[in-house]
Amino acid sequence: MSVAGVTPDALLAQALAFREQGDWAQALAALTRANIQRPSADVQQQLIDWRIEAGRSMPAPPESAPPVTAPLGAVGSVGIPEIAPSELSAARVREAVYSSGALIVRGLLEPPTVETLRQQIERVVGARENPDVFPPVEPQAAWYVRSPEAWGAPSQFFRRPGQTVESSSIWVADSPRMACELLALYESLGLPALLASYFGEPARLSVKKWVLRKMAPKKNGNAGWHQDGRFLGEDIRSLNLWLALSDCGGDAPAPGMDLLVDGPREIHPTGTDGAWFDWTVGPERVARLATEASIVQPRFAPGDALLFDQYSLHRTALEDHHSAVRYAIEAWFFAASTAPARQQPLFI
Ligand SMILES: [Fe+2]
Repeated sequence: MSVAGVTPDALLAQALAFREQGDWAQALAALTRANIQRPSADVQQQLIDWRIEAGRSMPAPPESAPPVTAPLGAVGSVGIPEIAPSELSAARVREAVYSSGALIVRGLLEPPTVETLRQQIERVVGARENPDVFPPVEPQAAWYVRSPEAWGAPSQFFRRPGQTVESSSIWVADSPRMACELLALYESLGLPALLASYFGEPARLSVKKWVLRKMAPKKNGNAGWHQDGRFLGEDIRSLNLWLALSDCGGDAPAPGMDLLVDGPREIHPTGTDGAWFDWTVGPERVARLATEASIVQPRFAPGDALLFDQYSLHRTALEDHHSAVRYAIEAWFFAASTAPARQQPLFI
């Protein structure tokens, strides 16, 4: 369908007509184009509402899904494989995740994009935490609005009184403006096509596992080792795109991520072996696993990406030398037919 000469009002009318026909993909595409031509808080909010509504219907699984076992020849390595953006493909992701648990893409985002995203995260945090100064809704931007279609507990919010820096976690779905921004970014990176190839079907995001993160340094953090499959379920296909927006991990001043370089498709027992919580893998068990595989804490430059899935054993790395805030964006993508309903899938 040609969009040349189509006015925003015509696009809105088209969106409604497609929605009436149950064609969510076309409806959302028309609504997105209307918002690009004439940015509007109302339209951005409607996009989120519709994405949640559309995400409630789960498609049938594809007739032939990609293999769930490691590709032939894949072997564990001492470190996490690293590639350039030009090398990113579904096959490369599968090979790395199934052999080493994760893949690093260096320099996936350009510096100006990183800077814009950091500023926008601050804008969203301001809209939530200081609404008198940062209006949550402006005529052209819905910075922080909870969709009536979203349910469940409020998004996570951490603040330690007396600290001048603070940590915040905000659902992207709570910022319709950011959701538009990030979906356009993912599109420009070719992610929807890559994910469709990786999953063998279209991808969904979700309300609960698509998160803007601002993490303050913390001494004696004791972050728990965990696998997200412990919460999300094993019977899924997932891929988390974690975008570092700060210099973090390793010798960097901001918190990073510890990862076990390992590929087996299994969920480890939790709440045992000295674990502090029933959802974490105990340190004694991790120490035993580390005799067979290595634990790494990669250093990420702003704009680097980490890809991993529900089996990857990891934790936030909080070290005493940290002095800087870490900005990051976490996006768990799911194969549409396996998206967990409890996470409130988002049609993208
Ligand atoms: Fe996690």
